[in-house]
Amino acid sequence: MFIEELRARTKEDHQQLDKLLIPYIKGCNTVAKYADLLQCFYGYFHPLESLISAYIDDDIVPQYSRRRKSNVIEEELQSMHENLHAINEDVPLPRIDNIAGALGAMYVLEGSTMGGKIISKILAENLGKQPSDIRFFNYYGDDTDVLWGQFVQSLNMFADELEDAGKGVVISVARNTFHCFKAWIEYYYLQKASGS
Ligand code: HEM
Repeated sequence: MFIEELRARTKEDHQQLDKLLIPYIKGCNTVAKYADLLQCFYGYFHPLESLISAYIDDDIVPQYSRRRKSNVIEEELQSMHENLHAINEDVPLPRIDNIAGALGAMYVLEGSTMGGKIISKILAENLGKQPSDIRFFNYYGDDTDVLWGQFVQSLNMFADELEDAGKGVVISVARNTFHCFKAWIEYYYLQKASGS
């Protein structure tokens, strides 16, 4: 199955992202720090979802419209009376110019809901909330595994029709999606630390 190859080829990228993010997640012990974390995710997910939308629809990935996660961040920040930061025009983003690339990037965004199960528990405990109150990181709730399964199935079906070069595009865009997100998080928190 293509998913196994993709998982193996991005394993190290995922580990590096986890390593960078975990201290920020564990350090989220105030609503203000939690809002910063959400702004950080919004700054990357929102423009990336717009790039993906040019190539993916509900026929390619079931329930695609429901999978746009940055809208939930907007709602969550609003409910916390936090203003949404404008998107930084220099945010690093992977280059996406076909369905294969869009699926590679989507693999990373959809996969984040798996890590979200752990992240939402840590955040809920730190902030004295229920995991269901942590909306973005627990966005699919009890449907997480089903939605992930459907995504993996569409990805595998699409990859079955691809030559090696096409599969290579999915992998390289997925890797680049991890790398750009890591670069964005580093930039975002460095900027915060310098007070700008
Ligand atoms: C630091 C917090 C994170 C932790 C602790 C974490 C942990 C995990 C775990 C345990 C899984 C496997 C779940 C399972 O098989 O049941 C997983 C899957 C995945 N996560 Fe993360 N994750 C984190 C953050 C992220 C983020 C921020 C992204 C992307 C933006 C991401 C992308 C993925 C992907 C793509 C998969 C699917 C791998 C596969 O099965 O093919 N993760 N994560």
